[in-house]
Formats: sequence, structure tokens, C-alpha cells
Amino acid sequence: MPKPRKIRRRAANRRGERVKILISGRRIQRRIQALAKQIRRDFPDEPLHLVSVLKGGVFFLTDLARSIAGEVSFDFIAVSSYGKATRSSGQVRLTRDLDSSIEGKTVILVEDILDTGMTLQYLLKLFQQRKPKHLRVAVLLDKPERRVAPVRADYLGFSIPNEFVVGYGLDYAERYRNLPYVGVLSLDSKLAKKAAEK
Ligand code: IMP
Ligand code: MG
Repeated sequence: MPKPRKIRRRAANRRGERVKILISGRRIQRRIQALAKQIRRDFPDEPLHLVSVLKGGVFFLTDLARSIAGEVSFDFIAVSSYGKATRSSGQVRLTRDLDSSIEGKTVILVEDILDTGMTLQYLLKLFQQRKPKHLRVAVLLDKPERRVAPVRADYLGFSIPNEFVVGYGLDYAERYRNLPYVGVLSLDSKLAKKAAEK
């Protein structure tokens, strides 16, 4: 019989926020190793150009890049994000463009999470116009229930339920990005309201 997985609950902080571990750092690292192998298998002889969406995709990119054998380069792009809220506005705006051209390159777009799909839909359209040789999408997390735009990942870490998650690059009001695991954030409504009033 497999042992039931331990669910560690963290005490709520002074803002009334609590994070419950959903995917441990070890599981994330193991999955990334497998994705790296899969990507290299699909493109055995090609230099790969990874493009990460700032800031959430950064840890995923750095871990993935170090796990892929052979020639790898990378670049960063930034789009407008959620800000303080836990819901997407649906509006996507480019706030930082790439340093170098992607024309003729084998590009892997590396994102932290696929939620409504609006961000990736916007970026895929933009990138396609720039004529890469191949364009693929790698996302660490997918919330299929929330999809609005018809986007799918070529390489996926984990499918997760429709919950707001933080850690391993993902933030809530710019906090929690540095957690080595992915956890579900819950807010104690009274305390969270008090903290927001401060
Ligand atoms: P989409 O455009 O709705 O697919 O949202 C993609 C972006 O929203 C991600 O790159 C994240 O920055 C953010 N996002 C979506 N879901 C979450 C979440 O559960 N926690 C933190 N950020 C999220
Ligand atoms: Mg993001």
C-alpha cells in the first residue's frame, strides 16, 4: 500500500495568508529532468533557444536549461501581469521585448503556468510573425479548467486543479516566488482585509 502523502500546512502569516504544499521541490526537479530529455529527443541536433516569460518562468527556465544536453541559449520577454489580484484581467501587454531575433531558431517558450491561455495566445501569435524555424511551448503547470483561449502546451510539467498557486516563480503580490515548491495559497478573509487596509 502506498503511504498517504503528507500534507504540510503552514500557519497563516500576519497577512492571513497560508500556503499548503501541492508539488514538492523534488517532484518538480524530477519532472523537469524528464521534460528536458523529451525536448532533446524531439530535436536531437538542433541548438535550442529558450524564451522565458518574466518573472514567473525564470526558475523553470534556469532548471530546464541546465538539464538539456547540447547547445542551448536563452532570452527573456515580459508581459503585463496580474499585479496584486489573484484573477487574470485578460489584458496582455508587452512590457519587455527580446534582446535578439528568433528568426530561423528552434524556440521553446517557457512559462510558469497556463491558466486562461491569453498570455500564451498573445505570445505565440507575436513569435509566429517573427518566423522561427520551430516554435514549441513548455509550461510547468496547467489549469485546464480555466482555459479561455485554445492554447496547449507541447511539454507539460503538471496539470493542477483550479486553485491559486504560489512558489517556484509564481507570486501573489510579488511574494512567495522564492519557495522551492508549488503550494496553494489561501487567504483568511478578515486578516487579509486588515492587511490590505494598512
Ligand atoms: P493566462 O494568461 O491566464 O494563461 O495566465 C498566465 C499568467 O497568469 C501566468 O504566467 C501567471 O503569471 C499568472 N497566473 C495564472 N494563474 C496563477 C496562479 O495560480 N498563481 C500565480 N500566478 C498565476
Ligand atoms: Mg507568468
